[in-house]
Amino acid sequence: MAKLSAAVLSLCVVLAFLAGQSAAGRYYSDKVQDKVRKEVEKAMAYNPGLGAALVRLVFHDCWINGCDGSVLLDKTPTDGTNTEKKAVTNIGLAGFEVIDTIKQKVGANTSCADILVFAGRDAADILSGGKIFYKLDGGLKDGVVSSAAAADANLPESTFDFTDLQNNFAASGRGFTVKELVALSGAHSIGVAHLSSYQDRLAADATPIDSDYQLALNKTTPLELLKKGQNPTVPNNPRDASAAFQKDAAYDPVTLGVSPTRNVLDNSYYHNNLENKVLFKSDWVLRTDGVAAGKLQDYKDNAAMWNSDFAAAMAKLSGLPPQGKNLEIRKNCRFTNQQYYY
Ligand code: HEM
Ligand SMILES: *[C@@H]1O[C@H](CO)[C@@H](O)[C@H](O)[C@H]1NC(C)=O
Ligand SMILES: *[C@@H]1O[C@H](CO)[C@@H](O)[C@H](O)[C@H]1NC(C)=O
Repeated sequence: MAKLSAAVLSLCVVLAFLAGQSAAGRYYSDKVQDKVRKEVEKAMAYNPGLGAALVRLVFHDCWINGCDGSVLLDKTPTDGTNTEKKAVTNIGLAGFEVIDTIKQKVGANTSCADILVFAGRDAADILSGGKIFYKLDGGLKDGVVSSAAAADANLPESTFDFTDLQNNFAASGRGFTVKELVALSGAHSIGVAHLSSYQDRLAADATPIDSDYQLALNKTTPLELLKKGQNPTVPNNPRDASAAFQKDAAYDPVTLGVSPTRNVLDNSYYHNNLENKVLFKSDWVLRTDGVAAGKLQDYKDNAAMWNSDFAAAMAKLSGLPPQGKNLEIRKNCRFTNQQYYY
């Protein structure tokens, strides 16, 4: 009897341990990171689309002068209100309220830059069902500069060709390889895009795109809408589209070897890309380079390899150090502490 209850007890301990490691409720040995985690779980339960937004924020913050929370600023002494948020390439950026809420919970001693990379990490973990995870130490500082023009000059555009992308990723202060470019592009297995971001893909002379997929896009978001001043969104991944869209696009996840569960961060992007069923030219052009095309195939064939390469590239991205002067820990993520010129 005593032996049995000891066995039951140890089983419970093992189960509790496993639960602690599970996607919903991963524990950190750090109070701040635990608070971030809890708020990200809450936000994503309320609106699942916020997960993709938080992952994208990491890229769009860290690409400009390192991870310095500059993408969060509404106003700065030097840029006025013409901050990164106003950049054309930042269309659709979201999740700012989640960061604000977390800032209120963690208080004055944690930078907005740390909150942002922690939140993106937790969102990736949750969206991947715990398969994509990386440790982050914190200690980033917040910048005081945020320029829309600098964001547009530095963020890649969806119409870039392969060489543009390669140079953009390899640029000084970043140093990302073609392999990392291909791994990170798999983030387009989640989230949404505006028609204006893939309009070139609906033209008769578009870069190669599966004709059924193009037809389904034409039907749901015809180019004419842009002329009428409308700019609707579609899921980046046909896996996440409606059954009717999938029928028109001749997209059957099971035939493609893709898990049909929607809103999961996984290697489905690589299955889609090799079928020309990706949204952006910048996705398709990865097929035009030998090294990149080899990685597309590797990541399609080996989901675990992609999970770990994506996690490693996100950790590298999340650690790009802030470049600016007068770094600080902001009191409010939307404003620099000093509202006048230094
Ligand atoms: C390789 C160059 C890249 C280009 C040209 C690019 C371009 C874009 C564009 C145009 C959108 C749609 C924006 C809109 O119309 O609303 C988008 C969405 C997105 N991108 Fe990228 N991207 C790139 C790399 C990345 C990387 C490295 C990440 C990883 C963090 C990423 C994560 C995302 C996510 C998660 C979304 C969906 C956001 C949401 O639903 O809120 N992208 N990207
Ligand atoms: C922030 O750090 C200071 C100095 O270490 C400490 O006195 C203060 O209690 C901390 N505040 C919070 C909210 O943790
Ligand atoms: C999608 O629409 C464009 C024009 O907007 C057209 O050139 C193209 O052929 C259409 N694609 C399909 C597959 O019907």
